[in-house]
Amino acid sequence: MWLYFLSLCGGGAAILYVLCGWLIPAAVEGSPRLTLLWHDFILEQILNALTWSTRPQRLLKAVQKKATRGDPQSVISAIDNFCRHKEWAMNVGDEKGAILDCVVSEVNPSTALELGTYCGYSTVRIARLLPPETRLITLEFNPDYAVVARQVIAWAGLQDKVELVVGASGDLIPQMKQQFGVKEFDFVFLDHWKDRYLLDIKLLEECGLLRRGTVLLADNVICPGTPEYLEYVRTNPRYESRYFKSHLEYTKVEDGLEKSIFLG
Ligand SMILES: C[S@@+](CC[C@H](N)C(=O)[O-])C[C@H]1O[C@@H](n2cnc3c(N)ncnc32)[C@H](O)[C@@H]1O
Repeated sequence: MWLYFLSLCGGGAAILYVLCGWLIPAAVEGSPRLTLLWHDFILEQILNALTWSTRPQRLLKAVQKKATRGDPQSVISAIDNFCRHKEWAMNVGDEKGAILDCVVSEVNPSTALELGTYCGYSTVRIARLLPPETRLITLEFNPDYAVVARQVIAWAGLQDKVELVVGASGDLIPQMKQQFGVKEFDFVFLDHWKDRYLLDIKLLEECGLLRRGTVLLADNVICPGTPEYLEYVRTNPRYESRYFKSHLEYTKVEDGLEKSIFLG
């Protein structure tokens, strides 16, 4: 009787594992909406309930287990491995991350702003490429994500290069000059909620935080998509804009980054 019950449980668990690990991800891969719904909502809720933990906490554990303290590249690899093989997460990811690396290296900014920290993956990617005196300010309005991000950034040994501020971009951008002593940003990475991109680029303009030559790099311009922002930077004579085609992090769904240079 017990043997029957145990084999029933084992069989059920194996079927669930195959369904959630392979069959459903493969089935939703053709649809950007279903892919996001599955990875970013349904599976996350299931795993949260099963493990009594959050996705950022699980990601942090993977970093602490697999990455070497003080080695940013090992932190990036640990997160990419976790997200490719265990659990998807909304980091910019390895494929678009390589484009982000190229743009950051090319701009070589003295002052940089990131909108949307999440667990600190892109923060680590950007900060590891910055010269010692450079300042990266990253904004995150979810305090639970910020707690994890601080630990990920510290594990990479980059805490002295990064100022993580907890709050909403719409409230913090107007305080950048007075409260944070920023004159202008050389580089801005937009990767927060997509309906804020257009509002915040206009806010950055109004607050005088963009200079001639400031580079803005926007993630997820196709999936989930930021059509109003794209139209603005592509049709506005104050910007020179270019699209970099890629894929939504850790999937085959099309996504890309928009690089826009502010012309003053
Ligand atoms: C896509 S995730 C960022 C991923 C991160 N840049 C990376 O690649 O590792 C978006 C994050 O932006 C945060 N966020 C969304 N809207 C925001 C806002 N208006 N101000 C500050 N943070 C925001 C969310 O809480 C979420 O953690």
